[in-house]
Amino acid sequence: MEQYIIKGGRPLTGEVMVGGAKNAALGIIAAAVMTDETVKIENVPDVKDINYMLQAIEDIGAKVDRINKNTVKINASKINTVNVDFDYIRKIRASYYLVGALLGKCKNAQVPLPGGCNIGSRPIDQHIKGFEALGAAVKIEHGLICANTDNLKGNHIYFDGVSVGATINTMLAACMADGLTILENAAKEPHVVDVANFLNSMGANIKGTGTDIIRIKGVPKLHGSEYSIIPDQIEAGTFMFAAAASKGDILIKNVIPKHLEAITAKLLEIGAQVVEFDDAIRVRACGKLGHSHVKTLVYPGFPTDMQPQMTTLLAVSQGTSIVTESIFDNRFKYVDELSRMGASIKVESNTAIIDGVDKLTGATVWAPDLRAGAALVIAGLMADGYTVVEPVDYIERGYENFEEKMQQLGAAITKIDSEDIKAIRKFKLKVG
Ligand code: EPZ
Repeated sequence: MEQYIIKGGRPLTGEVMVGGAKNAALGIIAAAVMTDETVKIENVPDVKDINYMLQAIEDIGAKVDRINKNTVKINASKINTVNVDFDYIRKIRASYYLVGALLGKCKNAQVPLPGGCNIGSRPIDQHIKGFEALGAAVKIEHGLICANTDNLKGNHIYFDGVSVGATINTMLAACMADGLTILENAAKEPHVVDVANFLNSMGANIKGTGTDIIRIKGVPKLHGSEYSIIPDQIEAGTFMFAAAASKGDILIKNVIPKHLEAITAKLLEIGAQVVEFDDAIRVRACGKLGHSHVKTLVYPGFPTDMQPQMTTLLAVSQGTSIVTESIFDNRFKYVDELSRMGASIKVESNTAIIDGVDKLTGATVWAPDLRAGAALVIAGLMADGYTVVEPVDYIERGYENFEEKMQQLGAAITKIDSEDIKAIRKFKLKVG
């Protein structure tokens, strides 16, 4: 099995470039099949989830040209089926965006129920509520979401809970429905806004994204477009935390500081230094950081996708901290792994009580999901000795060139196969 091996204790310094937002790109790739004209998308992150999504639309007949690893041209005029293949698309969460896209364009869709990170129960009742409100008949059978209708009609939809996926999925279908759709209690994440901006660049008529109420006037057709995806808020946040955790000094480039406000606020609160520029942010830390109380919230609150990185940093901060996970019901699985490294954390229901310890010590730890995997690498950067994080699969689903970017910043990290004893020995000799 492939694993990361890390020798802790080196402050990360230098510059790192953030890639395009994975969670915007997934919705945008789905939206691209809604027109028969060609779309060109830039700043696409070259990560597994994106590549699975591109394979899925190619499988149903879309023409996909990878101009380079971060630029893709898509033409879906020859889509020959609305039944998305099962093999690889079940691995990712965002496969279900193809329901909204194909329902909008073809009034029919059959897509496998989604997979994705195991961070708690992840129902799709609000997605189904949105599609049914637009006039579609939706049923789940043989592991597929089957949705169809003679025509989609705009409606006034009030989501029972804020859902990024349901907001994007319903927006996809609604932008080609007849008449006006109003989405209330809509998600406001930057990637929701980015998908709407892409749809509007194709001729959709969507207003109000970034607020609780989104208004969508359906249009009969969407046209081609050229679009560049926003920077990834969570990749940026992850490197901000790596800088603070390693007591380093990093300039993180290609960011939108406004999207990072909640993350910046918490770093400042515990004593890190953060300086914002137009499209970059610099994070420095020296000496012990302080404790904090953190509750994950929907945007613009502190993001749930930064919760593992926050808990990891607080594990070696002074004093007792509390982290409450309000979005998912099982997102603390990685805490057992941190405990193997010497962390003192008690999880009670959806709250982690963290007693800061003096230091962590390296160990072999298991990455249960994407963001927890990144957090365990950050723990390895801080720990005394060697840490092995396995498997790397989850991390590679959401972070492009993760270990190369860390190496550029001076981290002693490499990816090896757990069977390759020689490589392990060579790494240890090299880093000492
Ligand atoms: C998206 O997941 C992201 N994934 C997640 O990022 C992110 O953690 C999450 O939004 C919250 O910001 C993608 O965009 C691919 P939700 P999503 O629908 O859309 C409940 C990462 O690391 N809910 O906003 O699945 C749900 O169970 C990943 O990049 C329902 O009850 O999240 C959860 O408790 C991990 N019914 C809450 O809402 C529904 O129909 C928020 O889920 C839908 C959701």
